[in-house]
Amino acid sequence: MIWLIGNKGMLGTELSLLFAERGLDFTGTDREIDITSPAALEAFANGKKAHGKRVCWIVNCAGYTAVDKAEDDAETCRRLNVDGPGNIAALAYKLGARFIHFSTDYVFGTYNKPVSTSTGEKRPYLEADDTSPIGVYAASKRDGEVRVIENTPDAYVIRTSWLYGKYGNNFVTTMLRLMQERDTISVVNDQRGSPTWAHDLADAIVKMIDAVEHPICLEPPPRNVPCFGIYHYTNDGDTTWFDFARAIYQKARELGLLTKDCEVKPCSSADYPSKVKRPDYSVLDKGRIRNEIRILIPQWEESLEKFLKELKK
Ligand SMILES: NC(=O)c1ccc[n+]([C@@H]2O[C@H](COP(=O)([O-])OP(=O)(O)OC[C@H]3O[C@@H](n4cnc5c(N)ncnc54)[C@H](OP(=O)(O)O)[C@@H]3O)[C@@H](O)[C@H]2O)c1
Repeated sequence: MIWLIGNKGMLGTELSLLFAERGLDFTGTDREIDITSPAALEAFANGKKAHGKRVCWIVNCAGYTAVDKAEDDAETCRRLNVDGPGNIAALAYKLGARFIHFSTDYVFGTYNKPVSTSTGEKRPYLEADDTSPIGVYAASKRDGEVRVIENTPDAYVIRTSWLYGKYGNNFVTTMLRLMQERDTISVVNDQRGSPTWAHDLADAIVKMIDAVEHPICLEPPPRNVPCFGIYHYTNDGDTTWFDFARAIYQKARELGLLTKDCEVKPCSSADYPSKVKRPDYSVLDKGRIRNEIRILIPQWEESLEKFLKELKK
């Protein structure tokens, strides 16, 4: 069975619904089984074993995700993002279970890769690139990746970015609220990344589990067996928060989700002070996951439209 940890969060809820829809055998826990307590984690797994259930996969969506708040709450953030995943990884190793854990594009804070001499363009980050986190949250996620990989060889660490979905506070839902309340909003135009619909990421995880469980795929398209380690998954394409906000506005207006005009203006990060600097560029290369599990990754605009249509229902 699959043990889904953090099943009440934004990504956890999407996964929970998808596991149920696909008929997968799973159980979910959230705060009631504290990931910072090795004893609580082990007792839960033992309880399942006593009922004849073997945990074959653990998927961890729990964590500390408040980027600015983390600056004043470093101890809690590190307990949740470093010690917690480390505890789960150690238990997964003991149980002989495979472990999927999530990390972030923010592990890449400062761009230090080559820039194309002809176009001046940066290149998306590869899984093996050196990390350069800025701030407590980003550093805790990077250290969490390291702790997980140290504690079990059977770990898949999926880095994702700019996640939004139906079941949590996120950029898209915040924009929709502000656009309905205000006549003008300013959005930063000097940070580049890739929006990701949590539903698409959940779908990729189901496909990844399937690819590992059924390594010999006789039907086309042929695929490799995904190997342990770090993977990147985001929606395809990249944009700035400003262009993302404009796309949200245009689509939401077309769909009637917004009933009034709102001017969306560009601003720079300097105009929008926050406790911690976000990366100027954190686009992730997705070649590895694309090749190993042969998935088609939807373009961010396409997924945004699907998500807004879902909200409309
Ligand atoms: N959101 C993004 O934009 C984004 C971007 C890149 C990567 N990620 C990564 O993706 C993963 C999922 O993110 P998300 O946005 O879905 O997270 P989320 O909505 O914040 O969900 C996290 C869940 O963990 C629970 N939790 C907190 N403390 C716990 C504990 N001690 N034991 C067990 N559960 C606990 C939370 O409960 P409470 O709500 O009660 O605290 C919540 O239900 C995270 O690893 C995150 O770092 C997210």
